[in-house]
Amino acid sequence: MKVAIVGSGYVGLVTGVCLADFGHEVVCVDNDQTKVDRLSRGEISIHEPGLGELIKSNLAAGRLSFTSALSEAVPTAEMVFISVGTPSRRGDGHADLSYVYAAAEAVAGHLSGFTVVVTKSTVPVGTGDEVARIVDSANPDADVEVVSNPEFLREGSAIDDFKRPDRIVIGIANERARTPMAELYRPLYLNQAPLMFTDRRTAELTKYAANAFLAMKITFINEMADLCEAAGGDVQQVARGMGLDNRIGPKFLHAGPGFGGSCFPKDTLALVKIAQDFGSPMRLVETTISINDQRKAAMSRKIVAACGGEVRRKTIGVLGLTFKPNTDDMREAPSIDIIGDLLDKGARVVAYDPQGMRAAAELMDNVEYAASAYAVAENADALVIVTEWNEFRSLDLARLRRAMASPVLVDLRNVYSYEEVAKHGFTYFSVGRPDGQDADPTVETAAE
Ligand code: UDX
Repeated sequence: MKVAIVGSGYVGLVTGVCLADFGHEVVCVDNDQTKVDRLSRGEISIHEPGLGELIKSNLAAGRLSFTSALSEAVPTAEMVFISVGTPSRRGDGHADLSYVYAAAEAVAGHLSGFTVVVTKSTVPVGTGDEVARIVDSANPDADVEVVSNPEFLREGSAIDDFKRPDRIVIGIANERARTPMAELYRPLYLNQAPLMFTDRRTAELTKYAANAFLAMKITFINEMADLCEAAGGDVQQVARGMGLDNRIGPKFLHAGPGFGGSCFPKDTLALVKIAQDFGSPMRLVETTISINDQRKAAMSRKIVAACGGEVRRKTIGVLGLTFKPNTDDMREAPSIDIIGDLLDKGARVVAYDPQGMRAAAELMDNVEYAASAYAVAENADALVIVTEWNEFRSLDLARLRRAMASPVLVDLRNVYSYEEVAKHGFTYFSVGRPDGQDADPTVETAAE
Protein backbone atom coordinates (compact mmCIF):
# COMPACT_ATOMS: atom_id res chain seq x y z
CA MET A 1 0.00 0.00 0.00
CA LYS A 2 1.04 3.60 -0.45
CA VAL A 3 1.31 5.36 2.90
CA ALA A 4 2.10 8.95 3.89
CA ILE A 5 3.15 9.78 7.43
CA VAL A 6 2.68 13.39 8.50
CA GLY A 7 5.08 14.24 11.34
CA SER A 8 8.39 12.38 11.53
CA GLY A 9 8.87 12.61 15.27
CA TYR A 10 9.27 9.59 17.47
CA VAL A 11 5.92 7.93 16.76
CA GLY A 12 5.71 8.90 13.09
CA LEU A 13 9.21 7.72 12.36
CA VAL A 14 8.82 4.35 14.07
CA THR A 15 5.44 3.81 12.42
CA GLY A 16 6.69 4.80 8.95
CA VAL A 17 9.85 2.75 9.12
CA CYS A 18 8.08 -0.37 10.44
CA LEU A 19 5.32 -0.11 7.80
CA ALA A 20 8.01 0.20 5.11
CA ASP A 21 9.64 -2.88 6.57
CA PHE A 22 6.32 -4.73 6.10
CA GLY A 23 6.68 -3.97 2.39
CA HIS A 24 4.47 -0.89 2.12
CA GLU A 25 5.64 2.14 0.17
CA VAL A 26 6.06 4.89 2.78
CA VAL A 27 6.76 8.60 2.46
CA CYS A 28 7.42 10.40 5.75
CA VAL A 29 6.74 14.12 5.82
CA ASP A 30 8.16 16.68 8.19
CA ASN A 31 8.25 20.45 7.89
CA ASP A 32 11.79 20.59 9.29
CA GLN A 33 13.92 20.42 6.11
CA THR A 34 17.16 19.78 8.00
CA LYS A 35 15.58 16.78 9.67
CA VAL A 36 14.26 15.54 6.31
CA ASP A 37 17.75 15.84 4.78
CA ARG A 38 19.36 13.99 7.64
CA LEU A 39 16.74 11.23 7.67
CA SER A 40 17.13 10.85 3.89
CA ARG A 41 20.81 10.09 4.53
CA GLY A 42 19.82 7.54 7.17
CA GLU A 43 20.88 9.71 10.11
CA ILE A 44 18.70 9.91 13.20
CA SER A 45 19.00 12.14 16.22
CA ILE A 46 17.03 10.02 18.68
CA HIS A 47 18.34 6.99 20.50
CA GLU A 48 16.08 4.03 19.75
CA PRO A 49 17.52 0.51 19.47
CA GLY A 50 17.25 -0.90 15.93
CA LEU A 51 15.70 2.21 14.36
CA GLY A 52 18.82 3.45 12.53
CA GLU A 53 19.47 0.08 10.87
CA LEU A 54 15.83 -0.25 9.81
CA ILE A 55 15.82 3.24 8.26
CA LYS A 56 18.96 2.47 6.26
CA SER A 57 17.77 -0.90 4.96
CA ASN A 58 14.36 0.43 3.91
CA LEU A 59 15.87 3.54 2.29
CA ALA A 60 18.17 1.22 0.35
CA ALA A 61 15.23 -0.99 -0.66
CA GLY A 62 13.45 2.09 -2.01
CA ARG A 63 10.36 1.57 0.15
CA LEU A 64 11.00 4.56 2.42
CA SER A 65 11.57 8.22 1.62
CA PHE A 66 11.40 11.58 3.36
CA THR A 67 10.13 14.93 2.17
CA SER A 68 9.00 18.28 3.50
CA ALA A 69 6.30 18.58 0.82
CA LEU A 70 2.84 17.19 1.50
CA SER A 71 2.23 17.51 -2.26
CA GLU A 72 4.84 14.79 -2.84
CA ALA A 73 3.34 12.37 -0.35
CA VAL A 74 -0.40 12.81 0.07
CA PRO A 75 -2.00 12.76 -3.43
CA THR A 76 -0.78 9.25 -4.24
CA ALA A 77 -1.27 7.85 -0.72
CA GLU A 78 -4.08 5.41 0.04
CA MET A 79 -3.49 6.06 3.70
CA VAL A 80 -2.30 9.21 5.50
CA PHE A 81 -1.16 9.01 9.13
CA ILE A 82 -1.24 12.10 11.30
CA SER A 83 1.48 11.64 13.92
CA VAL A 84 2.31 15.12 15.10
CA GLY A 85 2.82 16.12 18.74
CA THR A 86 0.03 16.64 21.26
CA PRO A 87 1.87 18.30 24.16
CA SER A 88 0.15 19.54 27.31
CA ARG A 89 -1.37 22.94 26.64
CA ARG A 90 0.40 25.56 28.70
CA GLY A 91 -1.81 26.72 31.53
CA ASP A 92 -4.62 24.19 31.59
CA GLY A 93 -3.12 20.72 30.96
CA HIS A 94 -5.49 19.86 28.10
CA ALA A 95 -3.85 18.16 25.12
CA ASP A 96 -2.80 20.84 22.64
CA LEU A 97 -4.46 19.77 19.40
CA SER A 98 -3.34 22.71 17.26
CA TYR A 99 -0.69 20.63 15.41
CA VAL A 100 -3.17 17.84 14.70
CA TYR A 101 -5.79 20.22 13.35
CA ALA A 102 -3.24 22.15 11.29
CA ALA A 103 -1.98 18.88 9.79
CA ALA A 104 -5.56 17.76 9.00
CA GLU A 105 -6.26 21.02 7.20
CA ALA A 106 -2.98 20.92 5.27
CA VAL A 107 -3.51 17.28 4.25
CA ALA A 108 -7.07 17.99 3.09
CA GLY A 109 -5.90 20.23 0.26
CA HIS A 110 -3.76 17.45 -1.27
CA LEU A 111 -6.16 14.52 -1.05
CA SER A 112 -6.94 12.70 -4.26
CA GLY A 113 -9.10 9.58 -4.62
CA PHE A 114 -10.36 7.53 -1.68
CA THR A 115 -7.98 8.01 1.26
CA VAL A 116 -8.00 6.80 4.84
CA VAL A 117 -6.76 9.51 7.22
CA VAL A 118 -5.50 7.91 10.44
CA THR A 119 -4.87 9.77 13.69
CA LYS A 120 -1.90 8.08 15.34
CA SER A 121 -1.16 10.93 17.75
CA THR A 122 -2.58 10.47 21.24
CA VAL A 123 -5.72 12.57 21.16
CA PRO A 124 -8.71 13.08 23.45
CA VAL A 125 -12.10 11.60 22.72
CA GLY A 126 -13.87 13.48 19.94
CA THR A 127 -10.74 14.54 18.05
CA GLY A 128 -11.45 12.15 15.15
CA ASP A 129 -14.86 13.79 14.68
CA GLU A 130 -13.20 17.22 14.58
CA VAL A 131 -10.52 16.02 12.13
CA ALA A 132 -13.28 14.69 9.85
CA ARG A 133 -15.09 18.02 10.08
CA ILE A 134 -11.90 20.01 9.29
CA VAL A 135 -11.04 17.84 6.27
CA ASP A 136 -14.59 18.07 5.01
CA SER A 137 -14.78 21.85 5.28
CA ALA A 138 -11.27 22.38 3.81
CA ASN A 139 -11.95 20.05 0.90
CA PRO A 140 -15.67 19.20 0.48
CA ASP A 141 -14.89 16.98 -2.54
CA ALA A 142 -12.42 14.77 -0.70
CA ASP A 143 -13.36 11.11 -0.39
CA VAL A 144 -12.03 10.23 3.08
CA GLU A 145 -12.51 7.99 6.07
CA VAL A 146 -11.04 9.26 9.33
CA VAL A 147 -9.78 6.46 11.58
CA SER A 148 -8.32 6.44 15.09
CA ASN A 149 -5.39 4.04 15.52
CA PRO A 150 -3.54 4.82 18.77
CA GLU A 151 0.01 3.64 19.33
CA PHE A 152 1.21 1.71 22.37
CA LEU A 153 4.95 1.97 21.76
CA ARG A 154 7.43 2.14 24.60
CA GLU A 155 10.57 4.16 24.08
CA GLY A 156 13.57 1.87 24.01
CA SER A 157 11.58 -1.05 22.61
CA ALA A 158 9.40 0.72 20.07
CA ILE A 159 10.39 -1.42 17.06
CA ASP A 160 9.70 -4.60 18.95
CA ASP A 161 6.41 -3.23 20.29
CA PHE A 162 5.35 -2.28 16.76
CA LYS A 163 6.22 -5.66 15.29
CA ARG A 164 4.92 -7.75 18.17
CA PRO A 165 2.02 -5.75 19.61
CA ASP A 166 -0.31 -7.10 22.28
CA ARG A 167 -3.15 -5.66 20.20
CA ILE A 168 -3.93 -3.14 17.50
CA VAL A 169 -6.88 -0.87 18.27
CA ILE A 170 -8.65 0.62 15.27
CA GLY A 171 -11.58 3.00 15.65
CA ILE A 172 -13.66 3.46 12.52
CA ALA A 173 -16.75 5.53 11.76
CA ASN A 174 -17.79 3.58 8.64
CA GLU A 175 -17.36 0.00 7.54
CA ARG A 176 -15.45 0.85 4.40
CA ALA A 177 -12.39 1.83 6.48
CA ARG A 178 -12.11 -1.76 7.75
CA THR A 179 -10.59 -3.47 4.70
CA PRO A 180 -7.73 -1.01 4.06
CA MET A 181 -6.79 -1.00 7.77
CA ALA A 182 -6.84 -4.80 7.90
CA GLU A 183 -4.71 -4.90 4.73
CA LEU A 184 -2.19 -2.45 6.23
CA TYR A 185 -1.65 -4.61 9.32
CA ARG A 186 -1.89 -7.98 7.53
CA PRO A 187 1.72 -8.92 8.33
CA LEU A 188 0.92 -8.46 12.03
CA TYR A 189 -2.28 -10.39 12.33
CA LEU A 190 -0.68 -13.20 10.41
CA ASN A 191 1.54 -13.26 13.52
CA GLN A 192 -1.61 -13.57 15.65
CA ALA A 193 -1.72 -9.99 16.94
CA PRO A 194 -5.37 -9.26 17.71
CA LEU A 195 -6.81 -6.53 15.55
CA MET A 196 -9.59 -4.89 17.51
CA PHE A 197 -12.07 -2.87 15.48
CA THR A 198 -14.29 -0.49 17.38
CA ASP A 199 -15.81 2.95 16.98
CA ARG A 200 -13.59 6.00 16.82
CA ARG A 201 -14.43 7.47 20.22
CA THR A 202 -13.87 4.14 21.96
CA ALA A 203 -10.44 3.81 20.34
CA GLU A 204 -9.47 7.29 21.50
CA LEU A 205 -10.61 6.54 25.04
CA THR A 206 -8.82 3.16 25.05
CA LYS A 207 -5.43 4.76 24.54
CA TYR A 208 -5.83 7.12 27.50
CA ALA A 209 -7.39 4.38 29.61
CA ALA A 210 -4.42 2.05 29.03
CA ASN A 211 -1.79 4.69 29.84
CA ALA A 212 -3.67 5.99 32.89
CA PHE A 213 -4.15 2.46 34.21
CA LEU A 214 -0.43 1.68 33.88
CA ALA A 215 0.44 4.97 35.60
CA MET A 216 -1.99 4.03 38.38
CA LYS A 217 -0.44 0.56 38.70
CA ILE A 218 3.04 2.06 39.15
CA THR A 219 1.70 4.59 41.64
CA PHE A 220 -0.05 1.87 43.61
CA ILE A 221 3.16 -0.10 44.04
CA ASN A 222 5.03 3.09 44.95
CA GLU A 223 2.57 3.79 47.77
CA MET A 224 2.80 0.16 48.79
CA ALA A 225 6.59 0.60 48.93
CA ASP A 226 6.11 3.47 51.40
CA LEU A 227 3.88 1.26 53.51
CA CYS A 228 6.44 -1.55 53.37
CA GLU A 229 9.08 0.85 54.66
CA ALA A 230 6.82 2.08 57.45
CA ALA A 231 5.36 -1.25 58.51
CA GLY A 232 8.23 -3.58 57.66
CA GLY A 233 7.99 -5.64 54.51
CA ASP A 234 9.57 -6.08 51.11
CA VAL A 235 7.75 -4.44 48.21
CA GLN A 236 9.49 -6.61 45.61
CA GLN A 237 8.09 -9.71 47.19
CA VAL A 238 4.70 -8.07 47.62
CA ALA A 239 4.80 -7.25 43.87
CA ARG A 240 5.76 -10.80 43.05
CA GLY A 241 3.00 -12.21 45.21
CA MET A 242 0.50 -9.86 43.56
CA GLY A 243 1.81 -10.31 40.04
CA LEU A 244 1.54 -14.08 40.06
CA ASP A 245 -2.22 -13.57 40.15
CA ASN A 246 -3.13 -13.67 36.44
CA ARG A 247 -5.76 -11.02 36.96
CA ILE A 248 -3.08 -8.56 38.10
CA GLY A 249 0.03 -9.61 36.14
CA PRO A 250 3.65 -8.93 37.09
CA LYS A 251 4.47 -5.95 34.87
CA PHE A 252 4.54 -2.30 35.89
CA LEU A 253 4.77 -3.22 39.54
CA HIS A 254 8.33 -2.06 40.00
CA ALA A 255 8.56 0.56 42.75
CA GLY A 256 10.80 3.53 42.04
CA PRO A 257 11.05 7.33 42.02
CA GLY A 258 7.75 7.79 40.16
CA PHE A 259 6.80 7.65 36.50
CA GLY A 260 8.06 10.19 33.97
CA GLY A 261 8.48 10.40 30.23
CA SER A 262 6.72 11.98 27.32
CA CYS A 263 3.46 10.02 27.72
CA PHE A 264 2.25 9.13 31.21
CA PRO A 265 2.42 12.61 32.79
CA LYS A 266 0.82 14.33 29.79
CA ASP A 267 -1.77 11.65 29.07
CA THR A 268 -2.97 11.27 32.67
CA LEU A 269 -3.41 15.03 32.86
CA ALA A 270 -5.25 15.20 29.54
CA LEU A 271 -7.58 12.39 30.61
CA VAL A 272 -8.36 14.14 33.89
CA LYS A 273 -9.14 17.36 32.00
CA ILE A 274 -11.39 15.81 29.39
CA ALA A 275 -13.20 13.78 32.06
CA GLN A 276 -13.84 16.96 34.05
CA ASP A 277 -15.15 18.65 30.90
CA PHE A 278 -17.64 15.83 30.45
CA GLY A 279 -18.67 16.14 34.10
CA SER A 280 -17.43 12.61 34.75
CA PRO A 281 -14.24 13.04 36.80
CA MET A 282 -11.61 10.30 36.93
CA ARG A 283 -10.74 10.65 40.60
CA LEU A 284 -8.33 7.71 40.73
CA VAL A 285 -6.29 9.27 37.95
CA GLU A 286 -6.41 12.71 39.62
CA THR A 287 -4.98 11.16 42.77
CA THR A 288 -2.38 9.22 40.79
CA ILE A 289 -1.05 12.47 39.34
CA SER A 290 -0.81 14.17 42.70
CA ILE A 291 0.88 11.20 44.40
CA ASN A 292 3.39 10.94 41.58
CA ASP A 293 4.14 14.67 41.76
CA GLN A 294 4.80 14.46 45.49
CA ARG A 295 6.96 11.39 45.12
CA LYS A 296 9.93 13.24 43.66
CA ALA A 297 10.20 15.51 46.71
CA ALA A 298 9.87 12.41 48.90
CA MET A 299 12.82 10.88 47.03
CA SER A 300 15.04 13.90 47.66
CA ARG A 301 14.03 13.80 51.35
CA LYS A 302 15.09 10.15 51.36
CA ILE A 303 18.50 11.11 49.95
CA VAL A 304 18.92 13.89 52.51
CA ALA A 305 18.01 11.48 55.32
CA ALA A 306 20.53 8.94 53.96
CA CYS A 307 23.16 11.68 54.20
CA GLY A 308 22.39 12.18 57.91
CA GLY A 309 19.83 14.95 57.44
CA GLU A 310 22.08 17.47 55.68
CA VAL A 311 23.45 17.72 52.13
CA ARG A 312 24.81 21.27 52.23
CA ARG A 313 28.34 21.30 50.76
CA LYS A 314 28.16 17.54 50.28
CA THR A 315 28.82 15.88 46.93
CA ILE A 316 25.97 13.73 45.70
CA GLY A 317 26.70 11.45 42.76
CA VAL A 318 23.73 10.68 40.53
CA LEU A 319 23.71 7.58 38.31
CA GLY A 320 21.09 7.77 35.55
CA LEU A 321 19.20 10.86 34.44
CA THR A 322 16.77 9.80 31.69
CA PHE A 323 13.19 8.91 32.66
CA LYS A 324 14.01 5.25 32.01
CA PRO A 325 16.89 3.25 30.51
CA ASN A 326 17.64 2.79 26.77
CA THR A 327 16.56 6.26 25.77
CA ASP A 328 18.15 9.71 25.68
CA ASP A 329 14.80 11.26 26.60
CA MET A 330 14.80 13.58 29.61
CA ARG A 331 11.15 14.64 29.38
CA GLU A 332 9.52 14.66 32.84
CA ALA A 333 12.41 12.58 34.19
CA PRO A 334 12.20 12.28 38.01
CA SER A 335 15.94 13.12 38.11
CA ILE A 336 15.14 16.75 37.20
CA ASP A 337 13.09 17.48 40.32
CA ILE A 338 15.24 15.34 42.59
CA ILE A 339 18.46 17.07 41.49
CA GLY A 340 16.77 20.50 41.63
CA ASP A 341 15.85 19.83 45.28
CA LEU A 342 19.35 18.69 46.18
CA LEU A 343 20.89 21.77 44.57
CA ASP A 344 18.40 24.00 46.43
CA LYS A 345 19.52 22.38 49.66
CA GLY A 346 23.13 23.33 48.91
CA ALA A 347 24.51 20.04 47.57
CA ARG A 348 27.07 19.73 44.80
CA VAL A 349 25.68 17.28 42.23
CA VAL A 350 27.84 15.22 39.88
CA ALA A 351 25.95 13.03 37.39
CA TYR A 352 26.48 10.43 34.71
CA ASP A 353 24.03 8.94 32.20
CA PRO A 354 24.96 6.70 29.25
CA GLN A 355 22.76 8.60 26.76
CA GLY A 356 20.99 11.47 28.48
CA MET A 357 23.74 13.93 29.39
CA ARG A 358 23.41 16.15 26.35
CA ALA A 359 19.68 16.68 26.90
CA ALA A 360 20.22 16.96 30.66
CA ALA A 361 22.86 19.66 30.24
CA GLU A 362 20.33 21.80 28.40
CA LEU A 363 17.93 21.54 31.34
CA MET A 364 20.39 21.63 34.23
CA ASP A 365 23.55 23.67 33.83
CA ASN A 366 24.51 23.73 37.50
CA VAL A 367 25.17 20.00 37.55
CA GLU A 368 28.66 18.64 36.88
CA TYR A 369 28.68 15.85 34.32
CA ALA A 370 31.15 12.99 34.60
CA ALA A 371 32.35 10.42 32.08
CA SER A 372 31.47 7.26 34.01
CA ALA A 373 29.90 5.88 37.16
CA TYR A 374 33.38 5.65 38.69
CA ALA A 375 34.14 9.29 37.90
CA VAL A 376 30.85 10.22 39.62
CA ALA A 377 31.91 8.29 42.73
CA GLU A 378 35.14 10.29 43.09
CA ASN A 379 34.95 11.93 46.58
CA ALA A 380 31.16 11.58 46.67
CA ASP A 381 29.38 11.61 50.01
CA ALA A 382 26.55 9.53 48.57
CA LEU A 383 25.70 7.78 45.31
CA VAL A 384 22.10 7.69 44.07
CA ILE A 385 20.85 5.33 41.36
CA VAL A 386 17.94 7.16 39.69
CA THR A 387 17.66 5.25 36.38
CA GLU A 388 18.30 1.53 36.11
CA TRP A 389 20.61 1.38 33.08
CA ASN A 390 22.05 -2.12 32.64
CA GLU A 391 25.59 -0.85 33.14
CA PHE A 392 24.65 0.13 36.71
CA ARG A 393 23.59 -3.44 37.51
CA SER A 394 27.08 -4.87 37.69
CA LEU A 395 29.25 -2.04 38.96
CA ASP A 396 32.57 -2.82 40.60
CA LEU A 397 31.35 -1.99 44.10
CA ALA A 398 34.78 -2.24 45.72
CA ARG A 399 36.14 0.31 43.24
CA LEU A 400 33.19 2.65 43.83
CA ARG A 401 33.60 2.35 47.56
CA ARG A 402 37.33 3.20 47.36
CA ALA A 403 36.59 6.33 45.31
CA MET A 404 33.90 7.69 47.61
CA ALA A 405 34.35 10.02 50.57
CA SER A 406 31.60 8.22 52.44
CA PRO A 407 30.00 4.90 51.45
CA VAL A 408 26.29 5.74 51.16
CA LEU A 409 24.29 4.14 48.34
CA VAL A 410 20.70 5.21 47.70
CA ASP A 411 19.18 2.80 45.19
CA LEU A 412 15.88 4.29 43.94
CA ARG A 413 15.37 1.39 41.47
CA ASN A 414 16.16 -1.56 43.75
CA VAL A 415 18.95 -2.71 41.46
CA TYR A 416 21.06 -4.14 44.31
CA SER A 417 20.36 -6.01 47.50
CA TYR A 418 21.47 -5.08 50.97
CA GLU A 419 23.60 -8.21 51.22
CA GLU A 420 25.71 -7.60 48.12
CA VAL A 421 26.47 -3.95 48.91
CA ALA A 422 26.89 -4.36 52.68
CA LYS A 423 29.85 -6.69 52.21
CA HIS A 424 31.66 -3.82 50.50
CA GLY A 425 30.96 -1.58 53.46
CA PHE A 426 28.12 0.47 51.99
CA THR A 427 25.28 1.92 53.99
CA TYR A 428 22.34 1.06 51.76
CA PHE A 429 18.92 2.62 51.22
CA SER A 430 16.45 1.28 48.68
CA VAL A 431 12.73 1.61 47.95
CA GLY A 432 10.17 -0.35 49.96
CA ARG A 433 12.62 -2.85 51.36
CA PRO A 434 13.82 -3.17 54.92
CA ASP A 435 17.14 -1.36 55.42
CA GLY A 436 19.87 -3.59 56.68
CA GLN A 437 17.99 -6.74 55.92
CA ASP A 438 18.40 -8.58 52.68
CA ALA A 439 15.56 -9.37 50.33
CA ASP A 440 15.63 -13.04 49.41
CA PRO A 441 18.21 -13.07 46.58
CA THR A 442 16.68 -16.22 45.10
CA VAL A 443 13.50 -14.32 44.33
CA GLU A 444 13.66 -12.79 40.89
CA THR A 445 12.28 -9.32 40.39
CA ALA A 446 8.57 -9.31 39.77
CA ALA A 447 8.50 -6.40 37.39
CA GLU A 448 9.75 -6.08 33.83
C1 UDX B 1 4.49 4.56 27.77
C2 UDX B 1 3.55 3.35 27.53
O1 UDX B 1 4.14 2.18 28.09
C3 UDX B 1 3.31 3.17 26.05
O2 UDX B 1 2.37 2.12 25.85
C4 UDX B 1 2.75 4.48 25.49
O3 UDX B 1 2.52 4.37 24.11
C5 UDX B 1 3.70 5.63 25.77
O4 UDX B 1 3.94 5.71 27.17
P1 UDX B 1 7.10 5.04 27.71
O5 UDX B 1 6.75 6.46 28.07
O6 UDX B 1 8.10 4.82 26.63
O7 UDX B 1 5.78 4.27 27.24
O8 UDX B 1 7.66 4.37 29.04
P2 UDX B 1 7.32 3.15 30.01
O9 UDX B 1 8.28 2.04 29.76
O10 UDX B 1 5.89 2.81 29.96
O11 UDX B 1 7.70 3.80 31.43
C6 UDX B 1 7.07 4.99 31.90
C7 UDX B 1 7.60 5.41 33.24
O12 UDX B 1 7.15 4.54 34.26
C8 UDX B 1 9.14 5.44 33.37
O13 UDX B 1 9.49 6.60 34.07
C9 UDX B 1 9.45 4.19 34.16
O14 UDX B 1 10.64 4.29 34.89
C10 UDX B 1 8.23 4.11 35.07
N1 UDX B 1 7.96 2.75 35.55
C11 UDX B 1 7.54 1.77 34.67
C12 UDX B 1 8.09 2.44 36.90
O15 UDX B 1 8.46 3.30 37.71
N2 UDX B 1 7.78 1.18 37.31
C13 UDX B 1 7.36 0.20 36.47
O16 UDX B 1 7.09 -0.92 36.96
C14 UDX B 1 7.24 0.50 35.12
